[in-house]
Amino acid sequence: MNRKDACSRLSVCTGDITRLEVDAVVNAANNSLLGGGGVDGAIHKAAGPELLDLARTLGGCPTGEARVTPGFRLPARWIIHTVGPVWRGGTQGEPELLRRAYRNSLQLALDKGVRTIAFPAISTGVYGYPKVPAARIAVESALEVAAQFERILFCTYSERDEAVYRQVIEELCT
Ligand code: APR
Repeated sequence: MNRKDACSRLSVCTGDITRLEVDAVVNAANNSLLGGGGVDGAIHKAAGPELLDLARTLGGCPTGEARVTPGFRLPARWIIHTVGPVWRGGTQGEPELLRRAYRNSLQLALDKGVRTIAFPAISTGVYGYPKVPAARIAVESALEVAAQFERILFCTYSERDEAVYRQVIEELCT
């Protein structure tokens, strides 16, 4: 597949990722996988208590890795929990760890036969990763495997963040 076709499989939207009717939503979790604030809190709240019960048995998740659970009460069949890096200025391996988080989430989705997947802007909230470099890593990682998906959605939580993704996709896709 050429770059143009791969780009055609990417989408950006703004809204609550827990409401998306996709095969899998990706959660920006922490190493404990036991929930938190931000999108992690929203996903746990919407998925219901069974998610936490299962999460307790998973033994956590190292930064850059991903774990899959059912979506429980979410419209999405699967939740892929990944842990992005905390931003510490960019010299502590953050870019590589963020790229691994995206790549491992996408690989886990492929292993599950996922065709449509939605990502939040991993690490750009509480973890403080600068939005534009994070979006570039997200879009570059998605383009590597876009041919194997029907749709890869970047679900942002503000118009400003949506504009960042649209700008990055414009740069990488035209
Ligand atoms: N839908 C989509 N995106 C959301 C939602 C939502 N319901 N809620 C928040 N976001 C966005 C934030 O605006 C931000 O752009 O998700 C992005 C990621 O921000 P965080 O949720 O803060 O995640 P992160 O920066 O990776 O920090 C992870 O925060 O919530 C805790 O337990 C989590 O410790 C972990 C840390």
